[in-house]
Amino acid sequence: MIRKAALGTALPTANPTGFCAAPGWLSEQEPAGSFPDAVAYHLPVFPAEIADWMAAGPDKFIIDGTLGGGGHSELFLKAGAKVLGIDRDPEALAHAHARLAEYGNRFSTWEGNFSRLQEIPEIQQGGRADGLLLDLGVSSRQLDSAVRGFSFMREGPLDMRMGPSSPYTASQIINEWSEVDLARIIFEFGEEPKSRRIAAAIVRQRAIKRFDTTLELAAFIESVIGRHGRTHPATRTFQAVRMAVNEELESLATALSSVSSILKPGGRLLIITFHSLEDRMVKRFLRHRSAPFIDDPGWPEPRPNPDYQFQLLARKAILPTAEETSLNPRARSAKLRVARLLDPKP
Ligand SMILES: C[S@@+](CC[C@H](N)C(=O)[O-])C[C@H]1O[C@@H](n2cnc3c(N)ncnc32)[C@H](O)[C@@H]1O
Repeated sequence: MIRKAALGTALPTANPTGFCAAPGWLSEQEPAGSFPDAVAYHLPVFPAEIADWMAAGPDKFIIDGTLGGGGHSELFLKAGAKVLGIDRDPEALAHAHARLAEYGNRFSTWEGNFSRLQEIPEIQQGGRADGLLLDLGVSSRQLDSAVRGFSFMREGPLDMRMGPSSPYTASQIINEWSEVDLARIIFEFGEEPKSRRIAAAIVRQRAIKRFDTTLELAAFIESVIGRHGRTHPATRTFQAVRMAVNEELESLATALSSVSSILKPGGRLLIITFHSLEDRMVKRFLRHRSAPFIDDPGWPEPRPNPDYQFQLLARKAILPTAEETSLNPRARSAKLRVARLLDPKP
């Protein structure tokens, strides 16, 4: 679902894809104004590094593919750039609209999945961006909002959708998916070694009573695998279900396949990941696309890489400083990768 709204106008309710938001999607959230500043809503990670590497300035057009609380977008706006903020979450868009209103028509938003970058009207009209930022995962606001159902610490419905375009709810996955599929996502996305035990127990239990709430599911997982150490035993399962609900890896893979067609030559690509599977996907993509030649033991010599398109601006992932992780514990698992699109081949 894609909706564009110019700053200062009410968010339109037209829905070109026909997907229906859950009734009350926005009204069930706390009002956008209840988190007046970006820090209370979501403290952006790598603020200094993002500002430096994006090199935003007047005459630059930056796409923030994960607008959230608008903290990163604000850095680009302060540098004088024009910014398009994308998010799947209407509540995030409403919040950012209100908070960044002072930047007038240099800031606009577009509701939808960043996997659909090519559908952005500016891009369809032939425009290209000087930079794209993807800061993956959920915002602190989403996590902390009990009604969104992301947290195993707060009582809420089993929802976990980042926005109404997410294809399933957590309840559908937990109460309806097969044991094999549940075990697969809990193992793959949650990297949970006890995935099969958890999946089998969920399937046995739901035959007696459906799971309705976050705390009910969290307590059940704890009863199945016990508590060892400080991490809550439901952490990995909740992460896995969230990633499945929002098709997070699929969205990233699709977005990566189209970034070279939405950036200008020299345009910057900045991606922040919090999960090893996401980081591996980004690393492999950039490693392949930044290699002028590819080789194979069966070939007499290396061959030019037809996919050579990017220059890595930092060879390795950039990690947060100790100072940042002490200020913002969420940054602990963050990795930033940066690259620039090369000029087209002659
Ligand atoms: C980590 S937060 C971004 C925080 C933001 N950089 C800031 O400074 O506040 C991620 C945001 O991206 C959104 N998001 C995640 N995946 C998305 C996708 N595939 N398409 C569109 N938005 C997405 C989430 O709804 C969330 O609001």
